[in-house]
Amino acid sequence: MSELAQSVAALRFLSEIGADEAVNDDPTDWTAVGARARRPTPPPAAPVQQPARAPARPAGNLDGAPLGTAESAQMARAAAGAAKTLDELKAALAAFEGCALKHTATNLVFADGNPQARVMLVGEAPGEQEDRQGLPFVGPAGMLLDRMLACVGLDRKAEDPAKAVYITNMLPWRPPGNRSPTDGEIAACLPFMERHIELMKPDLLVFLGGISAKSLLARPEGITRLRGRWFEYKAPGMAAAVPAMPMLHPAYLLRNPVAKREAWKDWLALSERLG
Ligand code: URA
Repeated sequence: MSELAQSVAALRFLSEIGADEAVNDDPTDWTAVGARARRPTPPPAAPVQQPARAPARPAGNLDGAPLGTAESAQMARAAAGAAKTLDELKAALAAFEGCALKHTATNLVFADGNPQARVMLVGEAPGEQEDRQGLPFVGPAGMLLDRMLACVGLDRKAEDPAKAVYITNMLPWRPPGNRSPTDGEIAACLPFMERHIELMKPDLLVFLGGISAKSLLARPEGITRLRGRWFEYKAPGMAAAVPAMPMLHPAYLLRNPVAKREAWKDWLALSERLG
């Protein structure tokens, strides 16, 4: 195999296992690090006076919420609750340190579309294209979503609130390699999502895929049982509930085109409800 072919194969392997983000500017030669670690330990040096240490923080869990899920969610609730506008909420998310995904993502992906729209769509998490552009649903799944919206007369770019949609995701940062979000990441960011809905005040909600449907409706069923049904969604700070329909995720439809039949029924039901 030529050197080029070997490099391409190595890159493909890394991409397939999800190692597709550079986390340091300079590469680390882990084989040399391993060799250093195996060297015999030198005799102990004379004791050195240690500076006073900061009080120990609670150990972070390994679930994507660096402070521990409960602590992260508490911080998120305080920060999100203080936001009085969507712009303030975006700034609060950008400053939030309770979700480790922020440090592997390229961009914060907050929302796209018309904030005056009657319909708010909530997806799962940004993918590669979304992470690069800082906008939700701009990759292949987003293109299919735009086509489905157009079929029922909706458009994320429309100025008329009756024809527009507003689009966001449960997580504002891309999980590395597009892996599924962990429960800890969802729990840490949930207060921001709840506040997002409170501030946006949609007439109707659409949950795209099982992650947003199950997290926001707190239901145990999978998306194939939830899709196409109307539920009532009420965030803690909302005076009244909003009708919400879970639908199949466009990325799922790309992998399972026969399921587009079901998706079409759901979009028609939404269109009917919008009158
Ligand atoms: N899938 C999602 O759930 N959201 C995006 O923004 C892109 C793909």
